[in-house]
Amino acid sequence: MRTRSLTASLGLWTFAIGLAGALAGALAGCRSLPPSKPESQWTIEEARGAEVYRQKCANCHYPTTTRGLHGPGLQALTKLKAMPSGAPPTDERLTQVILHGRQMMPATQLTSEQLDDLLAYLHSL
Ligand code: HEC
Repeated sequence: MRTRSLTASLGLWTFAIGLAGALAGALAGCRSLPPSKPESQWTIEEARGAEVYRQKCANCHYPTTTRGLHGPGLQALTKLKAMPSGAPPTDERLTQVILHGRQMMPATQLTSEQLDDLLAYLHSL
């Protein structure tokens, strides 16, 4: 009897784990994002923007995922309908957030050239 109920509960577990795996897979599928532009295809502007990003943003934001670090990951940021705050990812809004900060995010000082490069890079993510 004992062996039998053990087998039964093991079977149930295997089923539950399989189900969880299938669900996780389905969820991951829903969240798949448009791909980023590969580094080998960056324009000069995008490459300069990537350098600005490394210096000013990378400590707090991953560029290759939406998973959070100190702030949200920025992959596909400009291809989504809304940023984490709910605001649309327009250049105006991005400029505002970058230059003036937002809640826990500090303001970043950039020249207008650095800002243009950075925006070009953000569009490539
Ligand atoms: C010290 C950490 C830090 C740095 C440096 C930083 N951020 Fe952030 N960022 C945050 C945090 C925290 C948030 C979430 C703010 C909030 O509560 O909405 C955020 C939010 C954002 C958002 C989402 C805004 C929204 O409306 O949802 C964008 C876009 C962003 N940051 C871009 C940048 C860029 C580009 C840089 C580099 C110029 C940068 N951040 C530098 C911490 C940082």
